[in-house]
Amino acid sequence: MGKIKSAEFVVSNSEVAKCPKNPIPEYAFIGRSNVGKSSLINMLTDRKSLAKTSGRPGKTQLINHFIINDSWYLVDLPGYGYARVSKTSKKKFQKFITNYFEQRQQLVSAFVLVDIRHKPQPIDLEFIQYLGESGIPFGIIFTKADKLKPKAIERYVEDYCQQLLKTWEELPPYFITSSSKKIGQEDVLNFIKATNEEIEQLRNQ
Ligand code: GTP
Ligand code: MG
Repeated sequence: MGKIKSAEFVVSNSEVAKCPKNPIPEYAFIGRSNVGKSSLINMLTDRKSLAKTSGRPGKTQLINHFIINDSWYLVDLPGYGYARVSKTSKKKFQKFITNYFEQRQQLVSAFVLVDIRHKPQPIDLEFIQYLGESGIPFGIIFTKADKLKPKAIERYVEDYCQQLLKTWEELPPYFITSSSKKIGQEDVLNFIKATNEEIEQLRNQ
């Protein structure tokens, strides 16, 4: 599989303009606060505390770049929909996130993380809609699969796909994961590896 040999923290930024200039493929994790973005980065990279996690929502506040195998970036972003911040800071934050998605040239794909225990949330569906309308490729990562039994996971994913098919002709790639039980590592890394190889081939044409 697309095994990770090295994973290192590069930099944290509050502005997309200050993010690393190195033009290498980049993959960003986004989703509601506490959905498990930072935990997933640790699980994917086999590092316990590369990205900082917390039981309290709102832990990640900046754009965090990690370089993988010296050849591509993983990006840990703050969560959206954190209820305890004020309306003004929510607005500011939305701008910060949309700036990232609209301006980041080397972004290859976003991954929208969705907690597998909650039925489709408007905020997630709106964000997915926004990515689609902005022409930003994305996949969906269902998190915390350890919380449900296999049958319930199947049912949940089926329902979620039905929901998406109300607006989309085609389903995005999706992945079932658990950071605590290390489920889905191979699927996500293989997807990234295959995508990186496609990019490389296109570059060499
Ligand atoms: P913010 O940075 O606040 O936006 O949150 P985040 O999306 O980065 O979430 P984080 O990775 O910090 O995890 C939030 C909480 O969920 C922590 O208490 C984690 O231990 C827990 N968590 C994350 N992934 C899993 C998982 O796969 N299974 C279970 N059971 N808990 C998880
Ligand atoms: Mg986080």
